[in-house]
Amino acid sequence: MSHLILGIESSCDDTSAAVLRDEVLLSNVMASQEVHRQYGGVIPELASRAHQQNIVPVVHQALVQAGVTMDEIDAIAFTRGPGLLGSLLVGTSFAKGLSVSSGKPLVEVNHLQGHILSHFIQQPDQPKQPPKFPFLALLVSGGHSQIVRVDDYLTYEVIGHTIDDAVGEAFDKCAKIMGLGYPGGPVIDRLAKEGDPQRFTFAKPRIPDLNYSFSGIKTSLLYFLRDQVALDPDFIQKNQTDICASYQKTLIDILMDKLLKAVKLTGIREVAIAGGVSANSGLRNRILEEGKKRGWVTHIPEFKFTTDNAAMIAITGLYKFRSGSRAELDLAPISRALDYH
Ligand code: KG4
Ligand code: ZN
Repeated sequence: MSHLILGIESSCDDTSAAVLRDEVLLSNVMASQEVHRQYGGVIPELASRAHQQNIVPVVHQALVQAGVTMDEIDAIAFTRGPGLLGSLLVGTSFAKGLSVSSGKPLVEVNHLQGHILSHFIQQPDQPKQPPKFPFLALLVSGGHSQIVRVDDYLTYEVIGHTIDDAVGEAFDKCAKIMGLGYPGGPVIDRLAKEGDPQRFTFAKPRIPDLNYSFSGIKTSLLYFLRDQVALDPDFIQKNQTDICASYQKTLIDILMDKLLKAVKLTGIREVAIAGGVSANSGLRNRILEEGKKRGWVTHIPEFKFTTDNAAMIAITGLYKFRSGSRAELDLAPISRALDYH
């Protein structure tokens, strides 16, 4: 039987709504919040206000573009967390209101699960081969860095995670220190392409198991730049591309070291990347290269499914809905990943 799912995402600074017919994407509407750029980071209070303004037109547009009415929708999937509490509250409350007024069931979605399951979204007339279970997912975003073993749509085990900052934060902070604006990932990615990744070296952390740490490298960049700028005030401008290339290479090396270890430990050679940082061209190339060399089946997401979007919430909602999962109206959002079960 065919299912129509409406997905709603509001965990950070993008308001998004999407409609899926089974795995096939019918619409994916996004309102990005420009207001944060001038502050060099997301301001939670401004984010929730912008979600309030955007959510009604965004959901409306998603239904219109999909050519469906609320009557035809089988379930409303919404991001319960993790994310900014004020932002999550807007999406959660809206989804509940819509559920009451339309009589449609609600399905709660873990945002991180959404990033991983984005690999299962199909686009009309562009069939793709999704990952086969079990697979390993390197989930890298602005808030999280994890290696996840995925045994089924809804069966996961986080086998490695960051003990401090996420890798996306390491990109964003670097850009902030260098005066390159927010978000940092895309601009560093662009500048790194023109630079020499061997020019500078940054110390890599020594963390046991499959865990990550990204706070040390940030500090090491800060001290390095401070020392260099003391000698030459124009150091950053003159060496921008080489700094970005060297810093980005170090971050990718750190990510890959543990991913290689995870493949060795689990024997799983089906490998996917997901989350905002999986838009990084250096990381995408590197994973393809390693995969080719080592005989992995690699899965690189389409750009529009790397950063936050509601299509990934809808696809997760679809699998949860089919498994019988339903959310109650008194369900509260959850801001921390660790509190999510
Ligand atoms: O998944 P996402 O949209 O939001 C969270 O769930 O956190 O990820 C946002 C993060 C930001 O840190 C941003 O700088 C990073 O993804 N990002 C990138 C690139 N595009 C976005 N990082 C590196 N290279 C990129 N091209
Ligand atoms: Zn995200």
